[in-house]
Amino acid sequence: MSKKYLITSALPYVNNQLHIGHLIGCLLPSDVYARFCRAQGRDVLYIGGSDEHGTTSEIGAARENMAVEDYVEKYRAKHLDAVRDFNLSFDLYGRTHTKLHEKLMHELFARLDSLGMIEEKSSLQPYSVNEKKFLADRYVIGTCPHCGYEKAYGNECEKCGASLDPAELKNPHSAIDPESPVEMRETKHLYFKLSKMQDKLRTWINSRVGWPKTAIKIANKWLDEGLHDNPITRDLKWGIPVNKPGYEDKVFYVWFDAPWGYVSISQAANDDWASWWKNPDCHYAEFMAKDNVSFHSVFFPAQELAMDDNWKTVDMLKGFNFLNFNGAKISKSTGNGIFLDEALNIAPSDCWRYALLASAPETDDTDFTMTRFAEIVNKDLNGLLGNFVSRVCKLSNKNFGDTIPNGTAMDETLAHRINEKLAELTGALDACEFRKSVVALRDIYGIANEYMTEKEPWALVKNGNTAGAAAVLNECFQMIDLFARISAPVIPDAAKKIQNIFETAHDLSWPTMYEHRIANGEKFTVPENLFTRIELNNEKDAK
Ligand code: 2FM
Ligand code: ZN
Repeated sequence: MSKKYLITSALPYVNNQLHIGHLIGCLLPSDVYARFCRAQGRDVLYIGGSDEHGTTSEIGAARENMAVEDYVEKYRAKHLDAVRDFNLSFDLYGRTHTKLHEKLMHELFARLDSLGMIEEKSSLQPYSVNEKKFLADRYVIGTCPHCGYEKAYGNECEKCGASLDPAELKNPHSAIDPESPVEMRETKHLYFKLSKMQDKLRTWINSRVGWPKTAIKIANKWLDEGLHDNPITRDLKWGIPVNKPGYEDKVFYVWFDAPWGYVSISQAANDDWASWWKNPDCHYAEFMAKDNVSFHSVFFPAQELAMDDNWKTVDMLKGFNFLNFNGAKISKSTGNGIFLDEALNIAPSDCWRYALLASAPETDDTDFTMTRFAEIVNKDLNGLLGNFVSRVCKLSNKNFGDTIPNGTAMDETLAHRINEKLAELTGALDACEFRKSVVALRDIYGIANEYMTEKEPWALVKNGNTAGAAAVLNECFQMIDLFARISAPVIPDAAKKIQNIFETAHDLSWPTMYEHRIANGEKFTVPENLFTRIELNNEKDAK
């Protein structure tokens, strides 16, 4: 039986259109890894979906004057379009506002409660006097005590970046009803006893291998500061109702229910979900941006361990830094960035997939520009890959017709060079090091181009060495077959087109070594150009 691989992408909030930052921050790398694992014959369950609860949905719906349910549907539809358009191969791109998810959360909460891991505490919370209700921190607006900004939120000031407590704000009022003053009143909430998990979690973190440094650093920072019990209920209407008497007016905190969405979506995707989630031999990889790391490296695993019910915890936690665009944060409100509904008007999805992966913010925040995008596409995809495939097919077709010219034994020097790079590529993908994997992939395209330049099959034809030219072109076709296999996780559409060059369908399994799979005399067709050059013609684009 092949080994089980569980792969999850962070669940983006459904409060906006997705952009290239989401794509590179979790959706795309998880997809590339899932495709790579499947090509290796591993037994993959690959899960994503929309995070539909929390204040972001409520506030967004109020902003657009819509019912929260309708608002969530509207943005979920856009997310689903992006999943389809960018070829994200989720087993299921599910959602958290489902009955199944609610049922799971109720069972999990009841278990934590019965194990003594939940505590009720009273605290002072912001209360909107006119609206007669408690407000989540984000619904309180007032003057920042640090910088004087008058529109600071109860949890943070977006001007000076200070994280705040609503009690600190001057002139606090409700975000929904600005006329309504806000005062601090006593209310009760349920807390998860995270402090009890300190030692177990430390041992668990120390047993993780291969995590990026930033992820380990973030987790250790929390542990070093000492874990505090954290509230898991909120005074909101939208969310999972709390299954405990006295909490009828409250819902669970979105970060309490969201990570368990990976489980409920798995349950919806596959009846056999427990053979991943309750299996200690399964390998679990999570993908997310760095602002999600503490939730996945501390809070979620602490809950999983506290359940004491054999839940699979994350093995590889891949956290990404932020992708900026033209030197600034990507943001819908400032209009800076490329949003996924517009991206395909600029170039096909494979181009975005490859160029973003080549620019993955793995070690630092990274700036992405259209100039960079065009350079990568033009040099690597159009130049090294597309032109090679096209030249080989055309030259061969012109001189030998529509069948693969006769080859001889494999060129051992060439094979050695390719195999070295193939090992690098496989190692990088296994370790989820995406920039490295793109470098190795490009190097293999480069080796093929060098081979052709050095062997000059057109000159061999001209000088009457037909058999020599045939052998070189045959070797080139073998490399084209290899390209389809090793490119498929990153650029699946192009890989399919390359695969279709050959009349016989050769599978796109992951190769351990360069091999000759294409028979002499097999039919092939000259494909349309795989890529077109990107020309930037206006100043805004050409930064
Ligand atoms: O940052 C976000 O967009 C969150 N909705 C991510 C949640 S990931 C998981 F826990 F669901
Ligand atoms: Zn401030």
